[in-house]
Amino acid sequence: MRILIINGPNLNFLGKRDRSLYGSLELNEIENKIKSEAIKLDIDVLFFQSNHEGDIVDFLQSNSSNSNGIIINPGALTHYGISLRDGLSDSKLPLIEVHLSNIHSRESFRSKSVVSDISIGQIVGLGWNGYIYALNFLKNYIDTK
Ligand code: DQA
Repeated sequence: MRILIINGPNLNFLGKRDRSLYGSLELNEIENKIKSEAIKLDIDVLFFQSNHEGDIVDFLQSNSSNSNGIIINPGALTHYGISLRDGLSDSKLPLIEVHLSNIHSRESFRSKSVVSDISIGQIVGLGWNGYIYALNFLKNYIDTK
Protein backbone atom coordinates (compact mmCIF):
# COMPACT_ATOMS: atom_id res chain seq x y z
CA MET A 1 0.00 0.00 0.00
CA ARG A 2 1.33 3.43 -0.90
CA ILE A 3 0.03 6.71 0.58
CA LEU A 4 0.93 10.18 -0.71
CA ILE A 5 1.55 12.73 2.07
CA ILE A 6 1.28 16.22 0.63
CA ASN A 7 1.88 19.58 2.30
CA GLY A 8 1.10 22.88 0.64
CA PRO A 9 2.40 26.45 0.81
CA ASN A 10 4.43 27.66 3.79
CA LEU A 11 4.43 24.31 5.54
CA ASN A 12 8.15 24.04 4.73
CA PHE A 13 8.47 26.84 7.32
CA LEU A 14 6.98 24.88 10.22
CA GLY A 15 9.06 25.53 13.32
CA LYS A 16 9.52 29.14 12.20
CA ARG A 17 5.78 29.85 11.83
CA ASP A 18 3.50 30.71 14.77
CA ARG A 19 4.15 27.84 17.19
CA SER A 20 1.00 28.51 19.18
CA LEU A 21 -0.96 27.59 16.04
CA TYR A 22 1.26 25.04 14.31
CA GLY A 23 3.50 23.58 17.04
CA SER A 24 7.28 23.59 17.28
CA LEU A 25 8.23 20.68 15.02
CA GLU A 26 9.73 21.30 11.61
CA LEU A 27 8.22 19.54 8.58
CA ASN A 28 11.05 17.01 8.33
CA GLU A 29 10.52 16.09 12.01
CA ILE A 30 6.80 15.55 11.37
CA GLU A 31 7.65 13.50 8.27
CA ASN A 32 9.99 11.33 10.40
CA LYS A 33 7.15 10.65 12.85
CA ILE A 34 4.84 9.74 9.96
CA LYS A 35 7.55 7.49 8.48
CA SER A 36 7.96 5.62 11.83
CA GLU A 37 4.21 5.03 12.00
CA ALA A 38 4.13 3.96 8.36
CA ILE A 39 6.84 1.34 9.03
CA LYS A 40 4.76 -0.05 11.93
CA LEU A 41 1.69 -0.19 9.67
CA ASP A 42 3.66 -1.63 6.72
CA ILE A 43 2.76 1.28 4.44
CA ASP A 44 4.99 3.03 1.88
CA VAL A 45 4.72 6.78 2.15
CA LEU A 46 5.78 9.31 -0.46
CA PHE A 47 6.23 12.87 0.86
CA PHE A 48 5.82 16.04 -1.16
CA GLN A 49 5.75 19.71 -0.20
CA SER A 50 5.42 22.69 -2.49
CA ASN A 51 4.60 26.36 -2.29
CA HIS A 52 3.18 26.16 -5.83
CA GLU A 53 -0.28 24.81 -6.63
CA GLY A 54 0.68 23.61 -10.14
CA ASP A 55 3.61 21.62 -8.77
CA ILE A 56 1.22 19.75 -6.46
CA VAL A 57 -1.07 19.06 -9.43
CA ASP A 58 1.96 17.74 -11.40
CA PHE A 59 2.90 15.52 -8.45
CA LEU A 60 -0.65 14.13 -8.25
CA GLN A 61 -0.74 13.43 -12.00
CA SER A 62 2.61 11.61 -11.83
CA ASN A 63 2.00 9.56 -8.69
CA SER A 64 -1.72 8.84 -8.20
CA SER A 65 -2.01 5.89 -10.55
CA ASN A 66 0.31 3.72 -8.47
CA SER A 67 -0.87 4.91 -5.03
CA ASN A 68 -3.77 3.93 -2.79
CA GLY A 69 -4.62 7.09 -0.87
CA ILE A 70 -3.75 10.69 -0.08
CA ILE A 71 -3.26 12.67 3.12
CA ILE A 72 -3.01 16.38 2.41
CA ASN A 73 -2.57 19.58 4.34
CA PRO A 74 -3.16 22.07 1.52
CA GLY A 75 -2.17 25.10 3.67
CA ALA A 76 -3.81 28.26 2.37
CA LEU A 77 -4.77 26.47 -0.89
CA THR A 78 -7.44 24.80 1.26
CA HIS A 79 -9.48 27.96 1.01
CA TYR A 80 -9.29 28.73 -2.74
CA GLY A 81 -7.22 26.13 -4.64
CA ILE A 82 -9.64 24.93 -7.31
CA SER A 83 -7.00 23.37 -9.57
CA LEU A 84 -5.70 21.47 -6.54
CA ARG A 85 -9.24 20.35 -5.80
CA ASP A 86 -9.65 19.19 -9.41
CA GLY A 87 -6.32 17.31 -9.29
CA LEU A 88 -7.31 15.56 -6.07
CA SER A 89 -10.71 14.70 -7.49
CA ASP A 90 -9.20 13.40 -10.76
CA SER A 91 -6.88 11.10 -8.77
CA LYS A 92 -9.99 9.19 -7.62
CA LEU A 93 -8.04 8.20 -4.50
CA PRO A 94 -9.45 8.20 -0.97
CA LEU A 95 -8.35 11.39 0.69
CA ILE A 96 -8.03 12.80 4.22
CA GLU A 97 -7.61 16.55 4.79
CA VAL A 98 -5.40 17.48 7.76
CA HIS A 99 -4.80 20.84 9.41
CA LEU A 100 -2.45 21.42 12.32
CA SER A 101 -4.59 24.27 13.66
CA ASN A 102 -8.34 24.33 14.13
CA ILE A 103 -9.34 26.22 10.98
CA HIS A 104 -12.88 26.55 12.36
CA SER A 105 -11.82 28.61 15.38
CA ARG A 106 -9.75 31.15 13.44
CA GLU A 107 -10.56 33.86 10.86
CA SER A 108 -13.86 33.14 9.11
CA PHE A 109 -12.19 32.75 5.67
CA ARG A 110 -10.29 29.72 7.01
CA SER A 111 -13.39 27.69 7.83
CA LYS A 112 -14.19 27.29 4.13
CA SER A 113 -12.38 24.37 2.51
CA VAL A 114 -12.65 23.62 -1.22
CA VAL A 115 -11.44 20.06 -0.65
CA SER A 116 -13.50 18.92 2.35
CA ASP A 117 -16.47 17.71 0.31
CA ILE A 118 -14.25 15.43 -1.79
CA SER A 119 -12.45 14.12 1.33
CA ILE A 120 -13.50 11.16 3.46
CA GLY A 121 -12.97 13.47 6.41
CA GLN A 122 -11.11 16.42 7.84
CA ILE A 123 -8.83 16.39 10.92
CA VAL A 124 -8.20 19.81 12.45
CA GLY A 125 -6.52 21.24 15.53
CA LEU A 126 -4.71 18.10 16.68
CA GLY A 127 -1.24 19.24 15.59
CA TRP A 128 1.12 16.74 13.94
CA ASN A 129 -0.81 13.87 15.49
CA GLY A 130 -3.50 14.59 12.91
CA TYR A 131 -1.29 13.04 10.20
CA ILE A 132 -0.77 9.92 12.36
CA TYR A 133 -4.51 9.51 12.97
CA ALA A 134 -5.16 10.04 9.25
CA LEU A 135 -2.61 7.35 8.32
CA ASN A 136 -4.15 4.80 10.69
CA PHE A 137 -7.65 5.58 9.47
CA LEU A 138 -6.70 5.43 5.79
CA LYS A 139 -4.91 2.09 6.16
CA ASN A 140 -7.97 0.55 7.80
CA TYR A 141 -10.28 2.20 5.23
CA ILE A 142 -8.28 0.83 2.26
CA ASP A 143 -7.83 -2.61 3.86
CA THR A 144 -11.55 -3.03 4.45
CA LYS A 145 -12.72 -1.73 1.05
C1 DQA B 1 -3.19 25.20 7.89
C2 DQA B 1 -4.34 26.20 8.04
C3 DQA B 1 -4.39 27.15 6.85
O1 DQA B 1 -5.45 28.08 7.01
C4 DQA B 1 -3.10 27.94 6.74
O2 DQA B 1 -3.12 28.76 5.59
C5 DQA B 1 -1.89 27.06 6.76
C6 DQA B 1 -1.86 25.91 7.67
C7 DQA B 1 -3.05 24.30 9.13
O3 DQA B 1 -2.36 23.29 9.04
O4 DQA B 1 -3.57 24.62 10.20
O5 DQA B 1 -0.90 27.33 6.09
O6 DQA B 1 -3.47 24.35 6.78
